Amino acid sequence: MSDLFSFNGAEGAGWSQPEPMLGDDAAGPTVPEGLVRSRLPEWPRASEPELVRHYTWLSNRNFGIDTGFYPLGSCTMKHNPRLNERIVQLPGIDRIHPLQPEHQIQGLLAIFYEMQEMLATCSGMDVVTLQPVAGAQGEFAAIRCIQEFHHANGEDHRDKVIVPDSAHGTNPASASMCGYEIIEIPSADDGRLDLDALRAAVGEDTAAMMITNPSTLGLFEIEILEATRIVHDSGGQMYYDGANFNAIIGKTDPGRMGFDAVHYNLHKTFAQPHGGGGPGSGPIGVKGHLAQFLPSPIASRRESLDDDPRGVGDGHWYYWRDVGESSIGKVQQWHGNAGAVVRAWAFYRRYGSDLERMSEHAVLNSNYLRYVIMNPGPKTSKAIHAMPVEGAPADLVMHEFTLSLSPLKELNGVTGKDVAKRLLDYGYMSPTLYFPQIVPECLMIEPTETESKEVLDRFAADFHAILSEDPETITTAPHTTPVKRVDEVWAARNLVLRHPGRLTDSN
Ligand SMILES: Cc1ncc(COP(=O)(O)O)c(C=O)c1O
Repeated sequence: MSDLFSFNGAEGAGWSQPEPMLGDDAAGPTVPEGLVRSRLPEWPRASEPELVRHYTWLSNRNFGIDTGFYPLGSCTMKHNPRLNERIVQLPGIDRIHPLQPEHQIQGLLAIFYEMQEMLATCSGMDVVTLQPVAGAQGEFAAIRCIQEFHHANGEDHRDKVIVPDSAHGTNPASASMCGYEIIEIPSADDGRLDLDALRAAVGEDTAAMMITNPSTLGLFEIEILEATRIVHDSGGQMYYDGANFNAIIGKTDPGRMGFDAVHYNLHKTFAQPHGGGGPGSGPIGVKGHLAQFLPSPIASRRESLDDDPRGVGDGHWYYWRDVGESSIGKVQQWHGNAGAVVRAWAFYRRYGSDLERMSEHAVLNSNYLRYVIMNPGPKTSKAIHAMPVEGAPADLVMHEFTLSLSPLKELNGVTGKDVAKRLLDYGYMSPTLYFPQIVPECLMIEPTETESKEVLDRFAADFHAILSEDPETITTAPHTTPVKRVDEVWAARNLVLRHPGRLTDSN
């Protein structure tokens, strides 16, 4: 029996970690003397029930989709079915390592492959990789592919990326990280893309245009085909920000709209716990002419098992395919965020070929809630505008919508932020606030398809109740949350980046 198996003196017990090393024993060749502990750290000691109570208490101080309605526009916070958690914890998925040989991970590879195929089909793209682990990382990776495409064509002079002024901040940030100059174009009066502004902005230096459809105002860009024609005629590429994919699946797709590259936010469209920057998955899809630049590797399959009989039993052999020399390289250390991919796969599998029902219900819920909010009693109706412009649009919105609380501010000084904070007292997450910036006193609301009519009715009623409240109550909210109104300017100027607790330098 080797030392490895008799570490704790219990033969056959398997491998265990050694006891914490103290004093001289710890010094080993790699630990510098000054870093060796002379005593155990003063970690709190607690029994198991105490520990459970502590974390349960902490979780109760937090707000999440499981504790209340979460109408955070653009962020698509939908219910995460518990079945997905069971699936992702199956040993064949949960207990494998990215470096395991392909014959041991055929099941996971098959899931990756199917997810790629499904995304390609739904988006009208030719090749998909699941590697990026956030929407923003997907944006960066896809814009890098576009950059390499121009480089391969001897068109390095294309150094500008066009974004509309309603774009999510990650769009210009990602393009800028690739070294591009950003050209921002204003929206038209109805909040949609201004084609004249686009015509004026494109030129021989245009590398790409980045846009989401529907836009962050929840409006479908009805002139998108003309926009893609204008950009393509100038030699530029069209990039689709798929954060709002929830609104259009099965109805139309970016491929049909003329886009060349897309990112998807699996953690939004296909449900997945997220927030605070992760954990996410931001796969990208591209048309054939960009495929050779994608990050490696991509899950692939061969049609027959002639050369290896150990496949998953569906008559295919799944493997990691290297993209080749023109690839932009890896954007993540392994193959993507496997847990997020499996949850998303489980989510879409429940819908199967009915996936478009998801988008239909998301759009229905959004229009219903907008209608109920915009038709309050005479007292509150003066406080809100449906945006982008007063009295408009008469047409439908998509999966999310924006309101302007400017009229309320003019009436009694109460701002959009005050109302958002007051909603916390009523047990709701605040809607997205002050984004897109082109809407004054903006609240951006996205109910998603997983909320019932009862929840939406209650939210609208509470929203109206807040508008009728005494301004003092609203401007000092929240009153019932563990943390009350914070002075955000003070907090931004006096950053506390370290916990003030018992940590000292000597620890
Ligand atoms: C429209 C839009 N684009 C891109 C992103 C970036 O996605 P991620 O947060 O996954 O990086 C977001 C995120 O909220 C978004 O709403």
